[in-house]
Amino acid sequence: MRLLLATFLAFFCALTVHAVKREDFKECHQTSFCRRLRAIADKQAAKPDFTSPYSVSDPKRTPDTDGYSWTFPLHSALYPDVNFEMRVDLLEEGIVRVRADEVNSPSGLQRYNETAKWVFQGEPRIAKDGADVKNEADITTIKYGKDKELELDIVHKPLQITMKRNGKPQVVFNERSLFHVEHYRKQVEKPAEGGEDVKVEEGEEQVVFQNGDEIDRSWFETDDKDMFKETWRKWTDSKPKGPEGLSVDFTFPGVEHVFGLPEHASPLSLPSTVGEDSYYKEPYRLWNVDIFEYEADSPMALYGAVPLIHAHSKHSTVGVLNLVASETWVDVAHDKDGVRTHWVSESGIVDFLILPGPRPVDLFEQYASLTGPAALPPHWATAYHQCRWNYNTQDEVIEVQDEFDKADMPLDVTWLDIEYAPHHRYFDWNKASFPDPPKMLDDVASKGRKMVAIVDPHIKREDSFRIYSDAKGLDVLIKRADGENFDGWCWPGSSVWVDFFNPKSWEWWTRMFSFPVWTDSTPALYIWNDMNEPSVFDGPEITMPKDNRHVGGWEHRDLHNLNGMMFHNQTQAAITVRESTPKRPFVLSRSFFAGSQRYGAVWIGDNLGTWAHLAGEAAVFLSNSVAGISFVGSDVGGFFGNPSTEILTRWYQAGAFMPFFRAHAHIDTKRREPYLFPEPVKSQLRDVLRLRYQMLPLWYNAFHDAATKGHPVIWPQYAYHPTDTKGFAIDDQYYVGQSGLLFKPVVTEGATETSVYLADNEPYYDYFTHTVYPASSKPRNVTIATPIDRFPLLIQGGHIFPTRERVRRSSPLMWQDPYTLTVAIGRDGTAKGELYSDDGETFAWQEGEIVHAQYTYEKGVLSSRHKGEWRKDNAWAKKIAHVGVERVIILGAKKAPKSVKIAGEEVQFAYEKPQGGKAGTITIKNPPVKIVDEWEIVIA
Ligand SMILES: *[C@@H]1O[C@H](CO)[C@@H](O)[C@H](O)[C@H]1NC(C)=O
Ligand SMILES: *[C@@H]1O[C@H](CO)[C@@H](O)[C@H](O)[C@H]1NC(C)=O
Ligand SMILES: *[C@@H]1O[C@H](CO)[C@@H](O)[C@H](O)[C@H]1NC(C)=O
Repeated sequence: MRLLLATFLAFFCALTVHAVKREDFKECHQTSFCRRLRAIADKQAAKPDFTSPYSVSDPKRTPDTDGYSWTFPLHSALYPDVNFEMRVDLLEEGIVRVRADEVNSPSGLQRYNETAKWVFQGEPRIAKDGADVKNEADITTIKYGKDKELELDIVHKPLQITMKRNGKPQVVFNERSLFHVEHYRKQVEKPAEGGEDVKVEEGEEQVVFQNGDEIDRSWFETDDKDMFKETWRKWTDSKPKGPEGLSVDFTFPGVEHVFGLPEHASPLSLPSTVGEDSYYKEPYRLWNVDIFEYEADSPMALYGAVPLIHAHSKHSTVGVLNLVASETWVDVAHDKDGVRTHWVSESGIVDFLILPGPRPVDLFEQYASLTGPAALPPHWATAYHQCRWNYNTQDEVIEVQDEFDKADMPLDVTWLDIEYAPHHRYFDWNKASFPDPPKMLDDVASKGRKMVAIVDPHIKREDSFRIYSDAKGLDVLIKRADGENFDGWCWPGSSVWVDFFNPKSWEWWTRMFSFPVWTDSTPALYIWNDMNEPSVFDGPEITMPKDNRHVGGWEHRDLHNLNGMMFHNQTQAAITVRESTPKRPFVLSRSFFAGSQRYGAVWIGDNLGTWAHLAGEAAVFLSNSVAGISFVGSDVGGFFGNPSTEILTRWYQAGAFMPFFRAHAHIDTKRREPYLFPEPVKSQLRDVLRLRYQMLPLWYNAFHDAATKGHPVIWPQYAYHPTDTKGFAIDDQYYVGQSGLLFKPVVTEGATETSVYLADNEPYYDYFTHTVYPASSKPRNVTIATPIDRFPLLIQGGHIFPTRERVRRSSPLMWQDPYTLTVAIGRDGTAKGELYSDDGETFAWQEGEIVHAQYTYEKGVLSSRHKGEWRKDNAWAKKIAHVGVERVIILGAKKAPKSVKIAGEEVQFAYEKPQGGKAGTITIKNPPVKIVDEWEIVIA
């Protein structure tokens, strides 16, 4: 084993040029279903007027539902003997759900239909009233929405579904007639012809249908030699069910921008993948993989997948969630009429949802109504995390945190990568280097800190390892196609994987994390789930063979993209319940799917410490965020390579504005903890760390919005300013929650100034200098000086936000420190904001144990009011009843006040008049107000 590890390490060390091994991953033409189904679009392009062979008829109310749900027989002229069925549900939130499947297949086979079961937070509720429905011979029309402004037109023959808003089409399903479901069939033995490609004779299978069009079946199904068995490099996929692919097209008329489809290292506004001069030559791929040294700009698959797309124009936004968990490729084509998308998937039923919008914020909320809002993380998890592959000993862990203290740098969490575990048998500690884990954890916890240790899904196949013998005994391991337990190669060598789709594994996995069982853990220890795509070093595309078996007989191909989420869920569930008063869990996952936001944070994997990666990351965070996955960050400094001090400093600045802020590095990199650097770098890094801690209150506001409303933690320009067309494609700057803070990372070498785009008619104030960029009715770029210790951080006029200027060693130690309120006066002379606070670690917040203040500034009065229904006598409010405000800073005050009064009493203030481009500022020190109280500060 040691030897093997050494071989792996030698392999890593030998790599001097970092580049993805493209040959390890397939392109569309190398995978049979993608080749077959993508080809339909090429044929359609050559004959654009051809009509879909699919039609529906005779809608019936779906049995056993008493709301707006219809079932339609669905036919394909290509296969008159095959029966399909389509079901359309109108859900309560104005979301339309469409499902289609083959029924009564003589094969007796059933397509995978459980994706929604794992993705949805609960069964979506079918609407019962509020719609006008008209069933005519050739069209079913449903008018719905608050003012019946929405309309769903289901054209029966050929099948086409259009969603309209105020008569204008928003999305059209099957607009290009690319819809196709490959029914189950037997392999027809063809006479051997010596050659490999058996072609259907031209004209042999002509089918005449609708509008008198003629079409041969090969339009839809190339007689592909790999339909029933497929070999790629050294791996053969036995494909026991034969072809079962799906092709769907969605057209978004009148839009220029589509967003979403994470996870890809591509621009937020998704460029074209088809056409002569398309930006990418391959479709966006959704197939969760462990991709080594991925490219900074590519449609290649990464670690997570959310099959959600937003189409946005200044008039409206519409979304489509295409619930398929098998390998999926998506082509995007922009043309003068809008954006056309074509999705091909290897297996599963048709199950898509149309989210009506009309604003991006509505879409976020509609999406959250289906998949759940994000979990509210423990407060400390929003602070700074220090990781490295690896901190090798107990002493080293203590030393690292001591060095942070000596350097006066805040730190909340120290992480352990795979080397804490002997032979990578997770849960076990290498006692030679970690002789007393509980003592180490107690030391760490005594400073208010936490630790995170890695627990990966691969389990060393060794009988003496209790996790292995338990899982084998329970019979909950993923199986090979032949029914034996699958084994593959990963960090521990020969390994097995638990099937977390199997409920039998759940209670057991929970027990593994309980303190009586994992005796070397304490409540200060949290978890990191890596490699959960899953990564299998000797598997096809570094993952599991598609014909592996899960519980219920489903093949791995059907549910691959869900795999990481299942593991993440079970781990966070285990962490939640290990104490008698449940604590909010923290589990970091690399792989994710739609719904993963319910389970915790993700990071964007093994990035490179280069300017190109740093520059591209904001777009990746934003694209994950608009698809619900908004507790996201990257390895600060880059996982691979030794970044220059300049890149590292810029990365820390970027990191301080990532929702998840963690430094991490590969085992072969030079040590780069922030305290190791000489001055002035050390102070620059300290300032950035401190800035994150000062801003934790406003980050927590944003996390609370994510947890209660389903809003993203960081907002891209298009979602924040949905009618500002010039800003739609901008993905290198973003807003933090609704705080008004606009951040842009500096991502080029030697940048002494950086241009920031301002969309709206508000003044913006520089956070550091209070320089004011005046309101203007026109969008504009402003240039901001960005020497190495500075970066664009602006406050949009009209906001009030809380910070905490006193920084301590860790965030929990700051719980009773006073707040600073910054008021950035808007163009109309007003501002508003809030402060949300709770105990930061339990679920008591759901029982109303919170403090939630709403601040407004209007006509010279700054007031604090309780927001929502919470009572001052709740346990948390009582605990922090003494916490006050140590400073109020009012930016944009044009003249000196005569007096500042609270409850009739004058209080001291200082005024700086506007000069040299700086805003006029009133500073009120130590106003006698508490954050739990309602009060007014009157500035006259
Ligand atoms: C999947 O389809 C089968 C057969 O129609 C049905 O019994 C089962 O309930 C479906 N599962 C889900 C989650 O819809
Ligand atoms: C998460 O786990 C719970 C039980 O622990 C289960 O009820 C739920 O279906 C799981 N969901 C996913 C996506 O794994
Ligand atoms: C801002 O700068 C960008 C990049 O130079 C440019 O493309 C854009 O047109 C500018 N926008 C405005 C409103 O001036």
